[in-house]
Amino acid sequence: MKIFAHRGCSGSYPENTLAAFRAAAELPITGVEIDVHLTKDGEIVVIHDEKVNRTTNGKGYVKELTLKELKQLDCGSWYSEEWSAEKIPTLDEVFDIFENTNHRLNIEIKSDVFPYDGLADKVIDLAAKRGFRNRVLLSSFNHEDIQSVVQGKQVESAILTFEVLVDVYDYARVIGTKRIHVSLPSAFRKMTTDALRKGAIVYVYTVNDVSYAEELQRIGVHGIFTDYPEKMLAHFA
Ligand code: G3P
Ligand code: MG
Repeated sequence: MKIFAHRGCSGSYPENTLAAFRAAAELPITGVEIDVHLTKDGEIVVIHDEKVNRTTNGKGYVKELTLKELKQLDCGSWYSEEWSAEKIPTLDEVFDIFENTNHRLNIEIKSDVFPYDGLADKVIDLAAKRGFRNRVLLSSFNHEDIQSVVQGKQVESAILTFEVLVDVYDYARVIGTKRIHVSLPSAFRKMTTDALRKGAIVYVYTVNDVSYAEELQRIGVHGIFTDYPEKMLAHFA
């Protein structure tokens, strides 16, 4: 079962920071998960929420702030004073960290609340320019974006789901993918076992408990996103 560091090593470092991604890059895991949004001036930045309020010392929507304004914020102190120098990274800066590793980069296109027109294309173009085209896996709760990616470009992509759904594999096939990223509560439902039986590639978020990870491996889940990749690695090594 493949291990992905969720938002970097976000259990031990502030999420979606260069510190969290550097820690992940040191580990012999499959990959890392990265959340992206678009700034007011069209730059791709790495942050989870639509607003900067929870993880920085600023306020407001990412889409209403320029990259220069966002770079003035401290995105580490909310976690620990030790990380007060951390700034919101651009996707380009995260690519730098993984330039000489073999990790896969699961880039989550956060276009389900605000559409961020063109975000998926920008991510693909940057990945291609930086030589990461074959190493990225795009995912999103916005399945319209995933359908466009599947139809237009040769980049692996997955639908993200939160709800318990019926015939999710058939739905994913309509979109054009076999990859389904499901939430932990829905991972043990019929929805997921049916999808696995039909040939889906299933990854589960967010799995921080070793006993759940063991059970997921037993039912044939292909990958997990965890805030504690160090712990999962130690257990499954
Ligand atoms: O990509 C898996 C997971 O990150 C999806 O949910 O809210 O943690 O971005 P969230
Ligand atoms: Mg995410």
